[in-house]
Amino acid sequence: MANYNISIIKGDGIGPEIVDEAIKVLNVVGKKFDIGFSYNEFLMGGCAIDATGNPLPQETVDGVLASDACLFGAIGGAKWDSLPRELRPESGLLRFRKEMGVFANLRPAMVYDELVDASSLKPSVIQGVDIMVVRELIGGIYFGEPKGKDEFKGWNTMVYTVPEIERIAHVAFKLALKRGKKVCSIDKANVLDVSQLWRDTVIRIGAQYPDVELTHMYVDNAAMQLIANPRQFDVMLTGNIFGDILSDEASMLSGSIGLLPSASTGLKTAVYEPIHGSAPDIAGMGIANPIATISSASMMLRYSFGEDKAADAIDNAIKKAMKDGFRTKDLAAFGAIEVVNTSKMGDIIASNI
Ligand code: IPM
Ligand code: MN
Repeated sequence: MANYNISIIKGDGIGPEIVDEAIKVLNVVGKKFDIGFSYNEFLMGGCAIDATGNPLPQETVDGVLASDACLFGAIGGAKWDSLPRELRPESGLLRFRKEMGVFANLRPAMVYDELVDASSLKPSVIQGVDIMVVRELIGGIYFGEPKGKDEFKGWNTMVYTVPEIERIAHVAFKLALKRGKKVCSIDKANVLDVSQLWRDTVIRIGAQYPDVELTHMYVDNAAMQLIANPRQFDVMLTGNIFGDILSDEASMLSGSIGLLPSASTGLKTAVYEPIHGSAPDIAGMGIANPIATISSASMMLRYSFGEDKAADAIDNAIKKAMKDGFRTKDLAAFGAIEVVNTSKMGDIIASNI
């Protein structure tokens, strides 16, 4: 029997509630498909600051690196916003990504048929949308030097090296081969030198994938096209900050940010997390939507463990819960037959498996 060692970071706000539901579902799917999971929990973010003074304790770094994959809830909250930048939960997150070497962030944006009315866009525009944003996660302007701030000016630097662009481009092309066989690379090559290098490099790597159609789009136009005609996209390949912005935009095609998972993979281990934040305003109320986190657990099974059947079972169980009209509060206005709390949604998905 396969046995996987999963590190768990529940984090802050609604993090603990939603991660508990994903573990519930993993345990059920493990029983059904004869897969063993063991879990080790670590602190990160605001809760780690409160307990240790450090948003990313070394024990967490070591523990996650030693695991097969990490399931991550969400971190941060107003409580820690007044700390100096390098002590804030967000800084811990960036350091964490860097330490884990997770350079490839996969953010799918798909539309559940049952929720096609939940989007602010017309159903005719978003029906059938299935996009994968491949965002470079440990380079670009988030990490470039020099950076700084004095009384008079502030500065950051967008830097990409050829190897950094090559490795993320390979991830995008390989994924496209398993999907719609299209990559649209996003840049600002009409203005930025770093983007010209990005484009040249992506074209060179793309030549190794003759079965994938490669196109290029300036980021401003891409922001517009995502709203105007999102079905034209399959894989969108982006740098760090453009991907940050476009993946938030793409997430709204699906109607609720509470639905979408993500995977961060790369050199050492992989981290799976919902794309939404820690939502401190609803923490502890039992109304958070656990689907994004449960769906992240499915991505873990698929991408880290190659357990595609188990992943399919989770995806189908989520779809059935939607089809049967179960909704958490965020989606109560869209086809709800019964509005359920966080834990009940986990129960329903688990029992559908
Ligand atoms: C995200 C978040 C982070 C980012 C923040 C919290 C540092 O917005 O994961 O998209 O900008 O990468
Ligand atoms: Mn973001």
